[in-house]
Amino acid sequence: MSDPWEEIDWLALERIRKGYLGETAGRADYWESESDLFSYDQTFAQRIGWKWDHVCQDLLRRGWSPPSGGLLDWGCGSGIAHRSFLRAFPQSAQGGLKVWDRSPLARDYSMKKARRQFEGLSVSDHNPDRPMGGVVLLSHVWTELDETAQGKLLEDLRTASAIIWVEPGTYASSRSLIGIRAILREQFHVVAPCVHQETCGLLKPSREHDWCHHFAEPAREVFTSPQWASFNQRLGIDLRSLAVSYLVLDNRAPQALPNGAVRLLGRPRVYKAHALLLGCDASGVSEGRLMKRHSAELFRKAKKDTLTTLQTWVREEGDILEAQELGGAPESTPASSGT
Ligand SMILES: C[S@@+](CC[C@H](N)C(=O)[O-])C[C@H]1O[C@@H](n2cnc3c(N)ncnc32)[C@H](O)[C@@H]1O
Repeated sequence: MSDPWEEIDWLALERIRKGYLGETAGRADYWESESDLFSYDQTFAQRIGWKWDHVCQDLLRRGWSPPSGGLLDWGCGSGIAHRSFLRAFPQSAQGGLKVWDRSPLARDYSMKKARRQFEGLSVSDHNPDRPMGGVVLLSHVWTELDETAQGKLLEDLRTASAIIWVEPGTYASSRSLIGIRAILREQFHVVAPCVHQETCGLLKPSREHDWCHHFAEPAREVFTSPQWASFNQRLGIDLRSLAVSYLVLDNRAPQALPNGAVRLLGRPRVYKAHALLLGCDASGVSEGRLMKRHSAELFRKAKKDTLTTLQTWVREEGDILEAQELGGAPESTPASSGT
């Protein structure tokens, strides 16, 4: 079997990345050939897939499962979002998969790949004039839409049963998702990352510099394979950092969370004998101080940056007296590659 890395069109990847960085990608369809999609799928999309794995693991921990009614990957590109989602929630295959992208090449590529990977899965094109229904996946697409397209998308999303939206963990993307949450939370229950349905705490004036982001774990091969090293060199992308912002909405009320539930935002700031954790709950976003002597195990995890972001805290003023990670290890572990 030939090595897929040898077939990558690096010039195409550079061209596509230039469009993303210059924020010109939205102006016109940039998929010029199947080879563009293949090259993207092998590289950029893998990194996006690891973000999806992170979000799906979080949803499993949260006790969420998809409603029936099929799956729609909107702005599908090479299709990484639905492939990652279907691995974590195979039951979603029952309702079939629909894809939508302004690029017919992207729709064809992702449909072909889904048919190959998920035997028996019914796969078809979505008709954008029809209601969405079921679970809608959106991934790294918002900044490519102009205002009219954004407005139409938000209206169309009202016909979905559940929405899982993953964007880069940048200030701008997080703030866009916060704006989208504010519009759609009138109709949907907020499942994640928020542990509450209230106005987002980051909209308070004292929090205007913060953003809601988390870190996914890259697959181990990123640190060991010469191919990923050359991706890093050619494209200048920091492979270790996989910041993600996301939003999960559902028509159905999610499982209730225990008292003291908080979502950690960003990375902990770790000092010699304590760590500062930014926690979000219905009262807003505030920093909690975790003393090593109160919770040696969580302090160790904070140092290694492996804390589960869904926790319960018992607080006294600024101190976290007790902290517990919620949900334990999810049942299914995502594959690390081959997505
Ligand atoms: C950065 S890619 C992300 C692809 C895929 N969702 C992923 O996460 O890998 C953005 C995708 O949005 C598509 N797109 C851009 N504008 C669109 C529009 N107005 N309607 C539908 N798709 C659009 C592009 O063709 C492209 O495939």
